[in-house]
Amino acid sequence: MATRIMGTGSAIPSRIVTNQELEGFLDTSDAWIQERTGIGSRHAATTETTTSLAAKACLKALEDAGKQPEEVDLILAATVSPDCTFPCLACEIQAAIGADHATAYDINAACAGFLFALNSADAYIRCGMYRNALIVGAEVLTKIVDWNDRSTCILFGDGAGAAFVQEAEEGVVDMVQGANGKKGMALYRFEARTNTPFSEVAAAMEETKDSGYLEMNGQEVFRFAVSQVPDSIQKVLERTGWEKSEVDHYILHQANARIIQSIARRLGELEEKFPMNLHQYGNMSSASIPVLLDELNRAGKLKRGEKIILSGFGAGLTYGATAVIW
Ligand code: ACO
Repeated sequence: MATRIMGTGSAIPSRIVTNQELEGFLDTSDAWIQERTGIGSRHAATTETTTSLAAKACLKALEDAGKQPEEVDLILAATVSPDCTFPCLACEIQAAIGADHATAYDINAACAGFLFALNSADAYIRCGMYRNALIVGAEVLTKIVDWNDRSTCILFGDGAGAAFVQEAEEGVVDMVQGANGKKGMALYRFEARTNTPFSEVAAAMEETKDSGYLEMNGQEVFRFAVSQVPDSIQKVLERTGWEKSEVDHYILHQANARIIQSIARRLGELEEKFPMNLHQYGNMSSASIPVLLDELNRAGKLKRGEKIILSGFGAGLTYGATAVIW
């Protein structure tokens, strides 16, 4: 028994924000952003919300799989930028698409969120608790970054990607995942508003004027990614017994082109096996892996039986790699 990806979908806001547009209000340049990150533009939600993007991606994934919303057993939504803290995004999606028979809850593992959702769905399906799941990564990061901070706001964009998975003969083969909470302050966001008159912690945060925006130590995250991701991929290869030469595609979290190129070099693999779309979308956190997966799927670039490694890494710090037969 395994868990197979039967359909994919994605949704991207229509508003494009180019590097040139950022030059208009930030001390930055298209050349700097392209050279350091590989990002040329990103999309920003205007009329769209995290829920509307997620629901659209989910409906497309269901359509691709030939399924109806009422057939869904489980919805797992990965996000760090939901429209509200509760009800959770997965419940909002359930209502929006009419998946009335599904259990629904969120996973917060930042940029590794979609991967952790896939691994969780696989565990449920393998043990027989559910027969299928809709997994989705959705973000409107443009609302939580500081648009005066050139070192972070240039990196992120909005979007959603989803996959419908179900029990099958083959699909997810094995995975490794983990977390390093001791490094959590490398990438964090505190809740900006607090209402309690009792908390000394909240008062201290008010005093230090913690921004409530996403904060990042870019170089620490970079070092973490280029060491932890190759390590996770090596480990999952050992667990599956796959040779690197057998892997057809490495679908990695789209944070930065230099990170992905460095990982390819460290693995001794060809860069062309690492597709990228971050030039167009920037870093969409939990949405980046499923959006790329959907683009490759719809372009006919994934063939049944091909061997794929998915790998995500992000705030937490969280990381993982999952081996999948397409
Ligand atoms: N435009 C122009 N100059 C800039 C910009 C900008 N947008 N941002 C920073 N700079 C300046 C800095 O102020 C600094 O100037 P100084 O030398 O005068 O002090 C200089 O450029 C170098 O800054 P660094 O931070 O050292 O630049 P670095 O080469 O490390 O690149 C970056 C920064 C792109 C953020 C890099 O560290 C990185 O990619 N880190 C990985 C983090 C990442 O991708 N995070 C995404 C979220 S996490 C995730 O998805 C898992």
